[in-house]
Amino acid sequence: MEAVLAENVNILYDSYRAVEGLNFKLEEGETLLLLGPNGAGKTTLLKTISGFHRSYEGKLLIFGKEPAEAKELISYVPQSHSLNEVVPLKAIEVVSVGAIYKEGFFHFRFPKNAIKKAKEALNFVGLKHEAEKPFNKLSGGQKQRVLLARALISNPKLLLLDEPLSALDPSARAEVAAVLGKIKREKKITMIITTHDINPLIEIGDKVMLLNKKLIAFGSPEEVLRDEIIKSVYGPLARAIKVESRLYCITGDVHLMGGHL
Ligand SMILES: Nc1ncnc2c1ncn2[C@@H]1O[C@H](COP(=O)(O)OP(=O)(O)OP(=O)(O)O)[C@@H](O)[C@H]1O
Ligand SMILES: [Mg+2]
Repeated sequence: MEAVLAENVNILYDSYRAVEGLNFKLEEGETLLLLGPNGAGKTTLLKTISGFHRSYEGKLLIFGKEPAEAKELISYVPQSHSLNEVVPLKAIEVVSVGAIYKEGFFHFRFPKNAIKKAKEALNFVGLKHEAEKPFNKLSGGQKQRVLLARALISNPKLLLLDEPLSALDPSARAEVAAVLGKIKREKKITMIITTHDINPLIEIGDKVMLLNKKLIAFGSPEEVLRDEIIKSVYGPLARAIKVESRLYCITGDVHLMGGHL
């Protein structure tokens, strides 16, 4: 059974179609890199798969279930995390919240097993020694790794990550990309990752989708990252380059061709 199956999916905000006529399949364990200019519908698609946005038409199944019925299988890390950084939570507490969310209620004190699982998750993302530090004192790359640990604590089968690399400097990007690679290798979780910068993630992408309200291209990196396809979305300055058999994508200014088709 596919991890994600979309057949003729339209996603709506009232009568406005943000995404149209979407067809694709993602097998269990695959990582999909989701590319597209600003306003392309990337966040909208992740919200719909996660069951958070419910206004869509067509067939959309997550491990054979409708998104609203598949919530316990999914962890979703939103685009700009909405965590209130003024509340002085420690890293370990931020991660523990991931265990509590799923139970549908909120304790004032974190249950013991949540703290234990949170320690394991922090260890997995390489932040064992940062557990007691205040979240708001961590670096950007460390914060993103804490949020990954929080997403992992409920053992999801599908991990949805909305621009996990944005607002990070190149070394922090590499740090977070390395953890995503580790999740893929060791946990074999199906992932959908939106990004404006495919280069740090290219090695973990089994599939690449180029979305611009409609599906422009979907397939292996070799199939999708071709000059003519990339130029059709990002403009004439964009191109794909191959270095030592690896493909890289240079999109230049992502705002260049932004907005609706
Ligand atoms: N809550 C909403 N109500 C109405 N329209 C919305 C809403 N959220 C998004 N849209 C519209 O849907 C379209 C897709 O937006 P979306 O945020 O999914 O794009 P995106 O690809 O994630 O862009 P970005 O790269 O800037 O994050 C845009 O035209 C946007 O204005
Ligand atoms: Mg977005």
